[in-house]
Amino acid sequence: MQLAEHTVMIVGGTSGIGYAIASAVAERGATPIILSRRQTSVDRALASLPAGARGGTVDLTDAASVAALATAFGPIDHLVYTAGEALELVRVADMTPEIVQGFFETRFVGALSVVRAVAPMLRAGGSITLTSGSAAGRPGSGWALGASVCGAVNSLTRALAVELAPVRVNAVSPGVVRSPLWNNLSDNDREGMYEAGFGLPVGRIGEVDDVALAYVYAMEQEYSTGAIISVDGGSALV
Ligand SMILES: NC(=O)c1ccc[n+]([C@@H]2O[C@H](COP(=O)([O-])OP(=O)(O)OC[C@H]3O[C@@H](n4cnc5c(N)ncnc54)[C@H](OP(=O)(O)O)[C@@H]3O)[C@@H](O)[C@H]2O)c1
Repeated sequence: MQLAEHTVMIVGGTSGIGYAIASAVAERGATPIILSRRQTSVDRALASLPAGARGGTVDLTDAASVAALATAFGPIDHLVYTAGEALELVRVADMTPEIVQGFFETRFVGALSVVRAVAPMLRAGGSITLTSGSAAGRPGSGWALGASVCGAVNSLTRALAVELAPVRVNAVSPGVVRSPLWNNLSDNDREGMYEAGFGLPVGRIGEVDDVALAYVYAMEQEYSTGAIISVDGGSALV
């Protein structure tokens, strides 16, 4: 399947991985629709995407706002979900019920809410691609919640692939990728994390364009569903 003439909704498409996906699908002749919390992010991203790209805001905690996506943007071919706030590592001893729930709000509950609203308006042959992360399989200390939400997204992906068939549902599971997600770290910590990429089998940290290609693959190929596509530079091996 070619993406030309297709419409691709990217929730979280104003920055990082989601923005790289929007650029990649636009290059292939598709129309990206980018969504995030903030109109300023949407405007900034649209200003640098090709003409024809569309965008808007959504409040993932508001059922009416999520439901409005279906009417505002009409039938689409592919849904991609990359929304996620900056990650804060939390040690088990410091967790509260609010912190635990907050971790799942955007990445898991938000993803499921959007899927429920948008799946009925996917055109025949359409697909859904969610976002997980390599922490699911290899959590570091402080990553209990980050790993758990990625594991939950992996299971959700497989369950949706069964229940929503023939819509294909896959997830991309990135390792550490250079993106604005890490802007809350100090410059030293962030650069140290990126430099750790030199020790990976591929010898460098991931870039958003590396990961965007996996989402393009998930949309274009027509046989994979329920797949968790790992793009981690080999980090699971070392
Ligand atoms: N970067 C990595 O190393 C890495 C590795 C593994 C997995 N991931 C996962 O990949 C996803 C994308 O990460 P990224 O690196 O591209 O991050 P990013 O550059 O910070 O982009 C996050 C996007 O999500 C949007 N967003 C955040 N909270 C939202 C909310 N409540 N409602 C709607 N939109 C929201 C942001 O826009 P606004 O701020 O305008 O809302 C932005 O468009 C995240 O789930 C992340 O956990 C990233």
